[in-house]
Amino acid sequence: MHRFLADDRARLDKILDSVLTEANRFLSEVDTLPVGTVSPANIAEINISKEGIGALKTLALFKERYAAWMSGSAGPRYYGFVTGGVTPAALAGDWLTSVYDQNSLGSDESIAPQLELETIALLRQLFELPDAYTGSFVTGATMSNFVGLAIARQWVGLKRNINFAEKGLWGTEPSPIFSATPHSSIYKSLSMLGMGRGAITSIPCIPNREAIDISILEEHLRNLNGKPSIVVANAGTVNTVDFDDIAAIAALKTRYTFWLHVDAAFGGFAACSPKYRSLVEGMDLADSITIDAHKWLNVPYDAAIQFTRHLELQAEVFQNAAVYLGQEISSSNFVHLTPENSRRLRAMPSWFTLMAYGKEGYAEIVERNCDLAEWLGKEIGRSETFELLVPVHLNGICFTFKKGKDRASFDLVKAYLKKLKEKGDIFLTPTVYKGTPAIRVSIANWKTTQKDVEIAWRSMQREIEEFI
Ligand SMILES: Cc1ncc(COP(=O)(O)O)c(C=O)c1O
Repeated sequence: MHRFLADDRARLDKILDSVLTEANRFLSEVDTLPVGTVSPANIAEINISKEGIGALKTLALFKERYAAWMSGSAGPRYYGFVTGGVTPAALAGDWLTSVYDQNSLGSDESIAPQLELETIALLRQLFELPDAYTGSFVTGATMSNFVGLAIARQWVGLKRNINFAEKGLWGTEPSPIFSATPHSSIYKSLSMLGMGRGAITSIPCIPNREAIDISILEEHLRNLNGKPSIVVANAGTVNTVDFDDIAAIAALKTRYTFWLHVDAAFGGFAACSPKYRSLVEGMDLADSITIDAHKWLNVPYDAAIQFTRHLELQAEVFQNAAVYLGQEISSSNFVHLTPENSRRLRAMPSWFTLMAYGKEGYAEIVERNCDLAEWLGKEIGRSETFELLVPVHLNGICFTFKKGKDRASFDLVKAYLKKLKEKGDIFLTPTVYKGTPAIRVSIANWKTTQKDVEIAWRSMQREIEEFI
């Protein structure tokens, strides 16, 4: 055995102790670290060495080159994109995932698939979804959208007597895909699936909302005269956290032939709280659902869940025919259900956190995050400098600020956000909402408290002075 492999094997406990020390150091500082990365001017180039240096020296080198520059994005004042942190139990599950290094592809060599299956069952209970849904873990909501739309494509083919998984889409007529405010990853998924970004027919929204106008959607469905289509409903839009009326869309299924995919990447967590559950009413009638775990479930990257009611069709798409893998289609034979063959047991952090904090724990996180968004939204709405563009929905705020009498330009918005990032107290992301350059706040970290949003708000007010 190579010298350093043998040495490291002999001193594994010492290596793990050193990693624990570094983990404790980082986790004790993460709440007060600058929330956005401030990278060193340049990192000197490095080459692979002939002999290697062993794990302990590598850890020292890593700390010198990278550890000091890790941002506080997993901390309580990072409100960019939709970003969760890592609960203590999720962290424990994540570490052990690597320790056990199981392949959750579905063989009976490992108990991993059972654990994944059980985690899916726990998540069904959390989101109050019926047992008719099977699910599997994928790397993020983008992949979950991809899988949901892949099954939708197969379903449309079935209705048209074409097996797309066998024949491909070559030379066939496109079927329409309707949505009002889809996440960019829907377009990316359609591109990867060969259905094309251009396949989406954009349905107008209700005035002053990002939610779909149901009557216009119905008009489009009616015009298809029974031809199959796909509807992508959005539960939690990124700009304003708006929700389509999923129950009303689902009700159209009795009259029209369409697959209903719900992108509930983070909005699905509304189901955790009785206060917000009505926002996702009807989600349990969807054909496929996307929910992200590395957002509001607060598990580490990379984890999301895809749910579907159509296991057989899913296996038609993702089936991986190889004698040594077995052909059995079941909800735990994951090799036939997702794009990956070999799979990390990425359900484990979710299993740990769900067992550790239960339904009440998640209701508390969701409600606290939403209360804090409401508090910050009220301050923004009351101020003369800032302007709330829509009422606060769930955990999201969409606002802008004035430069003199006019609203800030996109460049000015970006300059302000850059300044905030440099100051390091709060991280926000820019957007354009119905043509207006704007700023989003999304609170999804389990650690965030009133104290954090007050620090954030003080920083927002202090740094705006030079931009107005
Ligand atoms: C509604 C929605 N769908 C999909 C995604 C993509 O998620 P991921 O980055 O995990 O692929 C996001 C991410 O913010 C989202 O908000």
